[in-house]
Amino acid sequence: MSFKNEYRIVKTNRRKINPTLIVGAVIVLLVCFAVMAVLGAFSGKGEDVSSLAPVSSAVNAITLASSEESSSEASTSSVTTSAPSTTSSKVQTSSVASVKPSTSSKASSVTTSSAPQIEANVPNGDWRLVIANKQYPLPESYKINVTYLPNGYRLDSRIVDAYNSMIAGAKEDGITLKIISGFRTYQGQTTLFNNKVNKYLNQGYSREKAKELAAQYVAPPGTSEHLTGLAVDLISTNWYNYNSDLNSGFEKTKEFEWLYNNCAEYGFVLRYPKDKEVITGYSYEPWHYRYVGIEAAKEIMSNKICLEEYVERFN
Ligand code: DAL
Ligand code: ZN
Repeated sequence: MSFKNEYRIVKTNRRKINPTLIVGAVIVLLVCFAVMAVLGAFSGKGEDVSSLAPVSSAVNAITLASSEESSSEASTSSVTTSAPSTTSSKVQTSSVASVKPSTSSKASSVTTSSAPQIEANVPNGDWRLVIANKQYPLPESYKINVTYLPNGYRLDSRIVDAYNSMIAGAKEDGITLKIISGFRTYQGQTTLFNNKVNKYLNQGYSREKAKELAAQYVAPPGTSEHLTGLAVDLISTNWYNYNSDLNSGFEKTKEFEWLYNNCAEYGFVLRYPKDKEVITGYSYEPWHYRYVGIEAAKEIMSNKICLEEYVERFN
């Protein structure tokens, strides 16, 4: 074996036990272990129940929220559906208005950051004069206790006696008045308004125009007096049978004549007179009467003014 060969052999042998190769191999092995360890750790987390917990909690939270909403709605509607069987003198202690906040509070927690806080406009601090119009919308949180009439309509409990007296007084004079609207919930008013808007949309009006037209007769949410429980829509059954829609033709009936001449005696006023549209913001409604108390009603009706004009003195 020549030196060269020997050297080659030695070189070959040395190459076999080259420490660099061993270190390299160890490093490769370590890297492989590290990669497997990391992969194992990730796959373990994927199956980890605790890592799913926030998702399932979120699902539970949503389920809970919707069941709270539906139970709240259910209690609202159960109040409504049980109504007709109750008597006129029964006061519902859980008024619809007091049921609502549990659902509206959730909505308001989302919206209040940008929505202005509004308060009810109660002139002279007198609840009978509370204003609900386009200029002073009633806050959704406005609460009253309502009483169900035998026919299922609701009114602010404080005016039921006055209302019953008026209906009875009319009857004594041979006039039968039919109530077709009393207290409305915020949601109910919203639905009425949207239905009216849809009616105009179906007739081909733009959304903006449809809303404008609808708002002449049906109050946009928050701006209806029916939310106060102090307003009633009264007509004659006979007239109503011949008119599919409420219209100013009601003023030609003897029922209107009686209401116009006598409503103030019971504390009610014709709320949207013919010549006050610019002030009230609504078209003439000979069927819509509003309780304000006898003293204010007599002054309003005898001077032919509207409620907005009457309460100016308290500004
Ligand atoms: N019809 C009146 C304006 C209302 O909807 O309250
Ligand atoms: Zn009305």
